[in-house]
Amino acid sequence: MFDWMPDNVAPAKDLAQSIRNLTREHNRWFKESIPLIASENVMSPLAREVMNSDLHNRYAEGLPGKRYYQGNIFVDKIESICEDLAKEVFDCEFADVRSTSGTVANMAILTALTKTREKMTTVALSDGGHISHAKIGATGLRGMKTYNYPFDEKNMNIDVEGAKRLIREVRPSVALFGQSVFLFPTPIRELKDAVDEVGCPTWYDGAHVLGLIAGKKFQDPLREGIDVFSASTHKTLPGPQHGIILSDLKREGLETALRRGVFPGVTSNHHLHSVAALAVTLAETREFGAAYADQTIRNAKALAQALYERGMDVLCEHLGFTESHTLIVDVERYHGGAKVAKSLEAANIILNKNLLPWDSDPVKPCGIRIGSQELTRLGMGPKEMVEVAELIARVVVKGEVPERVKDEVIAFKRQFTKVHYCFFEGEEAYDYPYYDGDI
Ligand SMILES: Cc1ncc(COP(=O)(O)O)c(C=O)c1O
Repeated sequence: MFDWMPDNVAPAKDLAQSIRNLTREHNRWFKESIPLIASENVMSPLAREVMNSDLHNRYAEGLPGKRYYQGNIFVDKIESICEDLAKEVFDCEFADVRSTSGTVANMAILTALTKTREKMTTVALSDGGHISHAKIGATGLRGMKTYNYPFDEKNMNIDVEGAKRLIREVRPSVALFGQSVFLFPTPIRELKDAVDEVGCPTWYDGAHVLGLIAGKKFQDPLREGIDVFSASTHKTLPGPQHGIILSDLKREGLETALRRGVFPGVTSNHHLHSVAALAVTLAETREFGAAYADQTIRNAKALAQALYERGMDVLCEHLGFTESHTLIVDVERYHGGAKVAKSLEAANIILNKNLLPWDSDPVKPCGIRIGSQELTRLGMGPKEMVEVAELIARVVVKGEVPERVKDEVIAFKRQFTKVHYCFFEGEEAYDYPYYDGDI
């Protein structure tokens, strides 16, 4: 039993109250912390408002106008607006907004494009691929045989010549691209010859970089020839925890296959409150997305530079460190990623350990992964990135006691209480993350 757990014979009301208190403590902790996890973000006040609505209690299997239940008059309008906004923001022919997460979107695509025991090519987990692309995740569940692209460790990207050879040799049913450690654009155009020769569909998982693509500050996978684009909607796109599938439908039968892949393939109801919050997020992205994406990338570069100047081994200095929201630091000489992430957590600086391509022990990663997107949403710029780098370096490089640095982290974070790049930005009741008493 953990010491923070209430006695399990306590009255149910006390247990419920303790969940409320733990939630409040969590909120307070994040209010006082520097959030640097590259896959997280904060929703806007308006997105939060619709998320916490009656929509959460309802069901709407099927598509707008073709439902299996009554009660969907307004849901149909919300979902149609959400799809239209997605098509506009990503400049494409097709959007399905019913996947309840990025992994569910990936499972829907696997259902639509593949059959059990077929072959596919992917980025390896150790090179930044996602677990849903791997044998131990959704791809394995589908029974796929996976083959990993050779990886260029120096440039932290797919090795183009090696990947072309692999695609020609394996002749996959689908070639999947996209990573959870996404520093630079995928060389989609460079691989096009090999993929065209094999004739297989191409699939891009842009979960991490969706908000940067929406702001037109990263590669545009559909314009570069990708057939299907999946993503979760809560990383650089600052929306609800949900999924999306986008396409220009250049292959016959793709629309029906994708729609059926989502429902009845891998979902039943599709979390209507999240669809509403996604629609708000996409509307705000249309208005503020370019400025936010631009600042996010500038901040990632500024943070990388400031950490580098403080003696930390930020990868890819020769390429300007990153073209996305993410930077990777090799912390082997500070006893590895797990130790560093834990020490920083004690100083209220929240990030995660990360496997590096050359790590020999997968359970002892030598890296840490850092994302600039959430700090950008809270209104920080390059000046603050230098301050954040200094706080990190004091714990990691200078070995200061984390608990002492924590007080300065709390004081620093108090200056950033609002979500930016959204409507109703300055309204008092919408202080980040939650005003007193609200959970
Ligand atoms: C590349 C990539 N794809 C898919 C996912 C899965 O997203 P979700 O957590 O929404 O299922 C992630 C999550 O980190 C990811 O990095």
